[in-house]
Amino acid sequence: MQKHPTGARMSASDAGGLAEAVAHLRAGRLVAFPTETVYGLGADALKDAAVAAVFAAKGRPRFNPLICHVPDLPAAERLVTFDGRARALAESFWPGPLTLVLPRRAESGVSLLAAAGLDTLAVRVPAHPVAQELLKAVGLPLVAPSANPSGKISPTTAAHAADGLGEKVALILDGGPCAVGVESTVVRPLPEGIAVLRPGGLPAEDLAGVAGPVIAPQAEGPIRSPGATASHYAPSIPLRMNAAEVRPGEALLAFGLNLPDGAEAVRQLSASGDVTEAAAKLFAALHDLDRPGVTGIAVMPVPEEGLGVAINDRLRRAAAGR
Ligand code: TXA
Ligand code: MG
Repeated sequence: MQKHPTGARMSASDAGGLAEAVAHLRAGRLVAFPTETVYGLGADALKDAAVAAVFAAKGRPRFNPLICHVPDLPAAERLVTFDGRARALAESFWPGPLTLVLPRRAESGVSLLAAAGLDTLAVRVPAHPVAQELLKAVGLPLVAPSANPSGKISPTTAAHAADGLGEKVALILDGGPCAVGVESTVVRPLPEGIAVLRPGGLPAEDLAGVAGPVIAPQAEGPIRSPGATASHYAPSIPLRMNAAEVRPGEALLAFGLNLPDGAEAVRQLSASGDVTEAAAKLFAALHDLDRPGVTGIAVMPVPEEGLGVAINDRLRRAAAGR
């Protein structure tokens, strides 16, 4: 265990670190841990006080429900009910960056705070080996929102989590940078099709092949996700999308070639124009460019295909944050 300059306690994700994390979680304390998408702020989903502490640490509105993380499909089936399509999705994409919103079992034992009073519960089986080991060792479902203050940029390294949460968390398990880099795709199976509530690390194109029609994210209406508020993922300085030029004082978030000149600083998401590479680098680049002396971030266009859909969703919310 070592101390980060913010006062956060950080540990390698070795046997000692995992044992320490398990002890904290069983005692109802908060532990940040790596997943393949972003770092999660984990707590015992069965304990009201632990779940309440997650909302408090993030400053998150209580109406925005949390995702329950479990090690495998059988563990998920103890919390929610699966129909044929939901099971097909789980079998195809778990472990991985897909969250399923399904009818909550009354006997699940999950704190009602986690689901924010809804009769559904979001469940996910993360693929990251540290998340897998932790979930198996702790033997509890863990609520885990992204390990950042509500509305701010999501963390893809242990240092990001430490910067955002500092001493509000008992321990941060360091498992290196997240490979996917954007949060899971949140879907809800409905009679008319699979509704995408939040685009994310699993491209929506992949869902259709397994579970039939896919309904794109809705700006309004009942199948909207409570967390899909316009302002989110926001750096402290203005962000501008589809920029063709750089204005004085701006940093450049680049994608592909032919970069405009004059930026205070440049971060390249993918020189070869690969949206998967860009997703993995997105949040670290935003954290990095959000620095003193930079007055805004100009972002080059990113295509709306594959993980580009999730990237543009996060960028639009970051832009709306101002
Ligand atoms: O990749 C991820 O999903 C990360 C990692 C840590 O697993 N977690 C994450 O959690 O992004 P969070 O809390 O930042 O986002 C959860 C999203 C929110 O948009 C929330 O509104 C939605 O899932 N959600 C949770 N439960 C829901 C439910 N019962 N119905 C509809 N939307 C729900
Ligand atoms: Mg989040």
